[in-house]
Amino acid sequence: MSQNLDKLKEKLAEAHKGGGEKRIAKQHEKKKLTARERVEYLLDENSFEEIGILVTHRTTDFGMEKQKFYGDGVITGYGTINGRLVYVFAQDFTVFGGSLSETHAEKICKIMDMAVKVGAPVIGLNDSGGARIQEGVRSLGGYADIFHRNVKSSGVIPQISAIMGPCAGGAVYSPAMTDFTIMVEDTSYMFVTGPNVVKTVTNESVTSEELGGASTHSTKSGVTHLTAANDIIALEKIKQLISYMPQNNQSAPEKLPYELGDEHREVLEGIVPDSSNKPYDMHEVIKGIIDDDSFFEIHKDYADNIIVGFSRIGGRSVGVIANQPMSLAGVLDVDSSKKAARFTRFCDCFNIPLLVLVDVPGFLPGTDQEWNGIILHGAKLLYALSEATVPKVTVITRKAYGGAYDVMNSKHIGADLNFAWPTAEIAVMGAKGASEIIFRKEIAASDDPQNKLAEKEAEYAEKFATPFEAAQRGFIDEVIMPRDTRRKLIKAFSALENKHVLRPNRKHGNIPL
Ligand code: HXC
Repeated sequence: MSQNLDKLKEKLAEAHKGGGEKRIAKQHEKKKLTARERVEYLLDENSFEEIGILVTHRTTDFGMEKQKFYGDGVITGYGTINGRLVYVFAQDFTVFGGSLSETHAEKICKIMDMAVKVGAPVIGLNDSGGARIQEGVRSLGGYADIFHRNVKSSGVIPQISAIMGPCAGGAVYSPAMTDFTIMVEDTSYMFVTGPNVVKTVTNESVTSEELGGASTHSTKSGVTHLTAANDIIALEKIKQLISYMPQNNQSAPEKLPYELGDEHREVLEGIVPDSSNKPYDMHEVIKGIIDDDSFFEIHKDYADNIIVGFSRIGGRSVGVIANQPMSLAGVLDVDSSKKAARFTRFCDCFNIPLLVLVDVPGFLPGTDQEWNGIILHGAKLLYALSEATVPKVTVITRKAYGGAYDVMNSKHIGADLNFAWPTAEIAVMGAKGASEIIFRKEIAASDDPQNKLAEKEAEYAEKFATPFEAAQRGFIDEVIMPRDTRRKLIKAFSALENKHVLRPNRKHGNIPL
């Protein structure tokens, strides 16, 4: 008996050494934590239960039978984050560069299957040189097994990926199919082919950082939703992110205790400028509406003409989508439409109500947008918001022009409660553009065309650049004082809590992708 116990102790001690002290020191030199340190930091103290610690690879080619490490380059198991069950895998770069072998993949698949069975989120901490080169197609098959599970789990349990080192080749496709990706600045990168292959194929010289670093994917491609200055901050952000989500699609996000008090916020009345062409920061509106310090922004540096993020309103988790007049006047374009559509669909999958704040002058015109498919991508947002069955509430703060009025969670596409501030302008287009078209002849025939245009513009604005026409028709449920917005929203989301929508049975809709 004691011999067997000693044998187990020995094996476990060996497993805890990963790829050995030298490689661990190298990992630390790069300012990276080891896989084990990351898991320990992410989960509540002493909550981690490891599964498959004694697994080793089965390869015999290339002398591999002499190189075996317990765990085979990935630590897998479950634990809790603030008391909530999560399943975790963390690739261990100190063992074969965290590369993915057949057994490494099997370990990941095992915990993904368990997570779906019990309905708990999966968090993947990626740090890997990609497919285990010594294993060939067995490794590729392992990746595909993971991809397939990512898809089957999508919309059933939340899936979060942290990129904490290299992530190359097919390895990028698992994170891309999860709900959120976070990249660590300077130590992580993601690309389908690295700089060397790029140089060979296209003769383009590019660094890893330029090609697929955190700065590139958070600003240019939108592949990553979040970035973090180091491993610790990345893990903290994951903990925060998960607090807004439910365990699975059959449960609701946690509601923090909240008692309705005096919710009036005077500050909301000084934000929208007198001139309709002046920008203002929609973050100020969000801040004035939500529970203190509860905003968790997603895709902050990508398509910043729209803001998306999680918040709490009266203790409830609420997804916020808001046009940002500070950037491109808050116009909808290809990237902002994709960004908001993706966020809408996550919230809808996981029973998180949506608040849409509108100040939008329309869609961005031009060949660049048309050739890049603004029709398709704008339709994507229209489709996603129409399709969502979670409670949906809209507040129009200023402009709601043209097709963008319809798209941005209008009554017509199924919003539950639509509010407008008295500063709202709900029209086919701005007063100047509209007057130039419909009063063209009258203006041209006038002795003083400039004056005539101004006169007609004022006439049009008086009639349409207000929320009242829409309110008369019931397209707006209530025109509210800005200071009352928070109170109205707390009550609205409370009243909509038990919203239940039945749709006709179908395999799935065909969202314009
Ligand atoms: C086996 C690997 C490995 C791999 C790294 N290692 N990548 N072992 N398979 N894919 C091993 C190294 O041999 C080394 O072993 C240790 O990990 C650390 O690697 P280094 O090169 O010393 O580290 P570093 O200088 O930091 O460079 C890291 C790296 C580089 C940039 C990731 O190792 C690299 O370019 N690796 C190959 C990447 C790649 O092309 N992967 C295949 C992608 S294709 P020792 O024993 O010295 O510690 C792909 C297809 C998937 O993934 C398709 C799915 C559909």
